[in-house]
Amino acid sequence: MSVHLSAIGLEKSYRKGKIQVPVLRGVDLEVEHGELVAIVGASGSGKSTLLHVLGLLDGPDAGSVQLSGERIDNLSEHRRDVLRNRTFGFIFQFYHLLPELSALENVMAPLMIRHGVRAYLAQRKMIRKEATALLERVGLGHRLTHRPAELSGGEMQRAAIARALAGSPEFLLADEPTGNLDAATGQSVLELLRDLNRERGLTMMLVTHDAHIAAQTDRTVRLAEGRIEEWATVLA
Ligand SMILES: Nc1ncnc2c1ncn2[C@@H]1O[C@H](COP(=O)(O)OP(=O)(O)O)[C@@H](O)[C@H]1O
Ligand SMILES: [Mg+2]
Repeated sequence: MSVHLSAIGLEKSYRKGKIQVPVLRGVDLEVEHGELVAIVGASGSGKSTLLHVLGLLDGPDAGSVQLSGERIDNLSEHRRDVLRNRTFGFIFQFYHLLPELSALENVMAPLMIRHGVRAYLAQRKMIRKEATALLERVGLGHRLTHRPAELSGGEMQRAAIARALAGSPEFLLADEPTGNLDAATGQSVLELLRDLNRERGLTMMLVTHDAHIAAQTDRTVRLAEGRIEEWATVLA
């Protein structure tokens, strides 16, 4: 099954006082199944906005988002919720883990949402096993009961990656996932993402400021003046 994601003529502006400030001015982008694409661009160029619109966290003012040719940005709230929970996984610069929950519980939470309370209670053991396996995959098998405050930055991002994988998404949307990490830790997180991309055919869009990170992806696009330009892949 080859699932691809397209942005067609996306426009988005934000109101600042009385004026509309355009951020996306007609973004066209096509991401193939299994691709690892870096999105670069100056601060404020709209990279986060684009990622949010692609992942249905926010809607465009004009244009559309299509999944294998089917428009998805205008679906009902319920159907967009299902896509957000199953088709897309998100990773953020500041991890966004729930501070009261252990690493394991943070990874189990989306599975709970996905299964519903009843099914969750019936399948709790299996869900716990699945979450444990994901944490082991990202190298956190020894940190299951740690809370976020008891983890390093790199460990928190690994836990967030495990959580994003919990719904078995088709697409992983990562907004500056290495932006808060030192170079060596950032590199190891990038390598983990690249391995997951290869071994699971997981399609990824990765926003980054770091040319060295971007150079390790399949393709880099640059957001400037509200539009996408293809960018030489080898920058470093
Ligand atoms: N919710 C919002 N309300 C108003 N303006 C916003 C909002 N989100 C982003 N912006 C503005 O849109 C522009 C692009 O923001 P963003 O997508 O976060 O850029 P980037 O991620 O590339 O740094 C910025 O000028 C920012 O101030
Ligand atoms: Mg941003």
